[in-house]
Amino acid sequence: MKIEPLISEERIQGRVRELAAELAAKEMSHPPVCLMVLQGAVPFARDLAGHLDMEGKFEEVAVSSYLGTTSAQRNPVVVGKLPESIRGRHVLVIDDILDTGRTLDFLHRTLVEQGALDVRFCVLLRKDVPRVCDVAVEYVGFDIQNEFVVGYGLDFQGDYRGLPYVGVFCPDGSAEGL
Ligand code: IMP
Ligand code: MG
Repeated sequence: MKIEPLISEERIQGRVRELAAELAAKEMSHPPVCLMVLQGAVPFARDLAGHLDMEGKFEEVAVSSYLGTTSAQRNPVVVGKLPESIRGRHVLVIDDILDTGRTLDFLHRTLVEQGALDVRFCVLLRKDVPRVCDVAVEYVGFDIQNEFVVGYGLDFQGDYRGLPYVGVFCPDGSAEGL
């Protein structure tokens, strides 16, 4: 088992500062409810918030994927409740990574159904894979190849979230394909 460093702490923090400046310029005229997706987005959302002069709400949502009983596909569900504060508001969803797009597509539909005025997305990473669901993401930290990554909130079976950098998870210890 090996973690091959991919995006250093320094690069992440630099990009987070840039994204915060972009968000401040484009979103703060109509301050959104920021909704971070647990648990992966916690470090990213915390660092973004540290650069934003935000008086608005910062909420959280947990989304889990389960194997539907009638379908072989993974269907996301909200664990617990969606915050009431999204009703009639612009919502900015902050997540760790866009992969198949299922999670963000699901959140988009669910938030609009629950009365959000509009929904925008800010992700730290966007994987270069064909999307199962086509989601428009307004803010992207880094585009990466189709590799399983950990660190800075991203986990493998609950581990590695605390790393300050993002690395490629190599289960067999090889760095092949990098
Ligand atoms: P999607 O619904 O397929 O777009 O996947 C989104 C979620 O899958 C992310 O929020 C992560 O929790 C998880 N995920 C996808 N790719 C990775 C990865 O490379 N490392 C860790 N988690 C991942
Ligand atoms: Mg996630």
